[in-house]
Amino acid sequence: MQNILVIGANGKTGRIISKVLRDSMEFKPYAMIRKDIQKPFFKNLGIETRLGDLEEDFSDAFKGIDKVIFAAGSGGNTSDEKTVAIDQQGAIRAVEFAKAHKLQKFVMLSSMGTDAPNRVEGLENYLKAKKAADDFLRESKMVYTIVQPGGLTNEKGNQKVEISKSLKKMGQISREDVAQALVYALELERTKNTSFEMISGQDDLKQSMKNFK
Ligand SMILES: NC(=O)c1ccc[n+]([C@@H]2O[C@H](COP(=O)([O-])OP(=O)(O)OC[C@H]3O[C@@H](n4cnc5c(N)ncnc54)[C@H](OP(=O)(O)O)[C@@H]3O)[C@@H](O)[C@H]2O)c1
Repeated sequence: MQNILVIGANGKTGRIISKVLRDSMEFKPYAMIRKDIQKPFFKNLGIETRLGDLEEDFSDAFKGIDKVIFAAGSGGNTSDEKTVAIDQQGAIRAVEFAKAHKLQKFVMLSSMGTDAPNRVEGLENYLKAKKAADDFLRESKMVYTIVQPGGLTNEKGNQKVEISKSLKKMGQISREDVAQALVYALELERTKNTSFEMISGQDDLKQSMKNFK
C-alpha cells in the first residue's frame, strides 16, 4: 500500500481524489487540510488527515508519505499576491519538501494555457504562477507528472477524454475525470516526467494516458 499525500484535499477536485484513492487497492490517502473544522468530513469517509497550510511550514505533512498529488489553488477571486503565494510558492515548497523527504513521485494538477500565459486574457497572472511551479517541478529532478486540464466542471465523469502534449484547442473536463487521471498518473509509466493537456472527448482515459503523443 502506497501512502499518498493529497494537497488541497478539501477542494472540489481534492475531495474526489481522496475518495478515489480510498477506494483503490494500492493507495492510502492522507488528506492535507488547513483547518480542524475540515477533519470530520474526512473522518466520516475513513480518510486520515494531516494539518498543513501552504503559507506556513507544512513539511511535517510529508512524514511516511510515498507520493504526492498537488491539487490546491488560491481560487479565482483572490489577489495576484495570493495567487503567487499559493499556486506558485506553495507548490514550489511542496516540491522542495517532497524532495527532502525522498518521495517517489510528484503529480501536479496544473492547467491548460500555462505554456503561453499571455495568450489567455485575464488569467495571465494565474497561468504565470502555475507555469513557474510547473517549471520548478520539471527541473527538480523529482519523478513527476504534470496534468494540464481545460476548464473544470462538476459534471459526472465518464473517463472519455482527449489527451495530447499539446491539444491546440480549448475545452472542458469534469473534476471526476481529472481526479481519476491524477490517480492513474501515480503509476502509469508513460506519464513519467512529462506533461499533457486533457479535455473531455471520445477516447478511454487510462488507454489515452498510456499512449498519448
Ligand atoms: N477551475 C478551473 O477551471 C481549472 C482549470 C484547470 C486547472 N485548475 C486547477 O485545479 C485546481 C483545483 O481546482 P478546484 O476547483 O478543485 O479547487 P478548489 O475547490 O478551489 O480547491 C482548492 C483547495 O486549495 C486549498 N488551499 C488554498 N489555499 C491553501 C493554503 N494556504 N494551504 C493549504 N491549502 C490551501 C483550499 O483549501 P480550503 O478548502 O481550506 O479553502 C482548497 O481545498 C485549481 O486550483 C487550479 O490550479 C482549475
